[in-house]
Amino acid sequence: MEKISRTKIVDLLKREDFGTMVNVKGWVRTRRGSKQVNFIALNDGSTINNVQVVVDLSNFDEEMLKLITTGACISVNGLMVESVGSGQKVELQAKEIEVLGACDNTYPLQKKGHSLEFLREIAHLRPRTNTFGAVFRIRHNMAMAIHQFFHQRGFVYFHTPIITASDCEGAGQMFQVTTKNLYDLKKDENGAIIYDDDFFGKQASLTVSGQLEGELAATALGAIYTFGPTFRAENSNTPRHLAEFWMVEPEVAFNDIIDNMDLAEDFIKFCVQWALDNCMDDIKFLNDMFDKELIERLQSVVKEDFIRLPYTEGIQILEKAVLDGHKFEFPIYWGVDLASEHERYLVENHFKRPVILTDYPKEIKAFYMKQNEDGKTVRAMDVLFPKIGEIIGGSEREADYDKLATRIQEMDIPMKDMWWYLDTRRFGTCPHSGFGLGFERLLLFVTGMANIRDVIPFPRTPRNAEF
Ligand code: 4AD
Ligand code: MG
Repeated sequence: MEKISRTKIVDLLKREDFGTMVNVKGWVRTRRGSKQVNFIALNDGSTINNVQVVVDLSNFDEEMLKLITTGACISVNGLMVESVGSGQKVELQAKEIEVLGACDNTYPLQKKGHSLEFLREIAHLRPRTNTFGAVFRIRHNMAMAIHQFFHQRGFVYFHTPIITASDCEGAGQMFQVTTKNLYDLKKDENGAIIYDDDFFGKQASLTVSGQLEGELAATALGAIYTFGPTFRAENSNTPRHLAEFWMVEPEVAFNDIIDNMDLAEDFIKFCVQWALDNCMDDIKFLNDMFDKELIERLQSVVKEDFIRLPYTEGIQILEKAVLDGHKFEFPIYWGVDLASEHERYLVENHFKRPVILTDYPKEIKAFYMKQNEDGKTVRAMDVLFPKIGEIIGGSEREADYDKLATRIQEMDIPMKDMWWYLDTRRFGTCPHSGFGLGFERLLLFVTGMANIRDVIPFPRTPRNAEF
């Protein structure tokens, strides 16, 4: 076969220099036609769109043609011609075909229309489907949007550790990291495990958040963000929770909670606009396949101001809804940690746009949040989104050494693990704020997918770590 340098299908479909010989390589989606002419729909992952390859069967070896089945990988040298019937401007008239990898009929993606549940069981092959090709291209674009947003604003991308000895959220949801022999653990006279001879010489875990180290960086570099994997051993089998997920955590010196809300709102709008500007082919596909209101929802989030509302007023609205006959599964009262159904009621039924809820009861929030003067609430902010519920959690941080140390003691957090964090408040403390955005929750919103397992390539959830 003549060596011609490869053209990606995404580029080919934009070209108009008909009559040129080009090479494309990709995987066969479908093959159909008559005894004389066949039409191959070829996809190489560079776009949701296939290129149609027209094959005049009399020009090719019969044995080779037999190998061109759904899923097979082929390389085609062909003439670019204007297309009338393929749905694209361009198609290829095949001159030479090489089968790079045959694919027998045990290939599970023979026909279209597999359920998302089935595709999760073949997560190693699902990137070959239209749906997951679209989702993972959007995922990439959102990662680029995040770096673009913060880089443009002078934030430093700061890498926080994945292995840590502190529980940032204090929720006891950490996966342990050890090299100890679990069948032969040394214990002290009280039955507590001795970690002195473990790899790190102390109990270590996978991080639930990079925030604490992010704060160290913000109080030196001014404005930073982290973007990396985080881990939570929460046994919640919901469409919104993963045991391993990616989090984006900006942290900014001198920002108060209002600045923090402004940043969060600008940030999400920037990312959604980026998706509309850069991923429209994929979004259109997902809109048509799964969620007819997706594009509309994305456009309206970019346009509208988010509602900003204290938790206490949110509770009043929810209590009134109950009085008016709305049924929630979980009870509603001041002090409750809102369930997703409550958050979605505020966003979808009451305000019909994103809501930033602030000033939560301190009992349901982490130790590091700035305490309000009422002695009951903290300067927390959660951003609540349609279809998702909480997409961002953040706060202004407690900058006062004594207040912070007292709260750490009240919450029984071991002081000896926190000395380095408290040093930020001892040495030139400053007001500062930050938040964490769940990357997969953002992707749920942008793709319109309903289950978080379908926006990360290889989901880790309770009882599932396949692939
Ligand atoms: O609200 P969270 O727990 O906040 C923090 O971790 C703070 N340290 C962030 C900060 O202020 N720097 O988590 C932040 C976000 C949530 O709003 C949610 O979007 C996402 O992380 N998240 C999860 N996403 C998927 N699966 C899970 N199990 C998640 N837990 C939290
Ligand atoms: Mg939260």
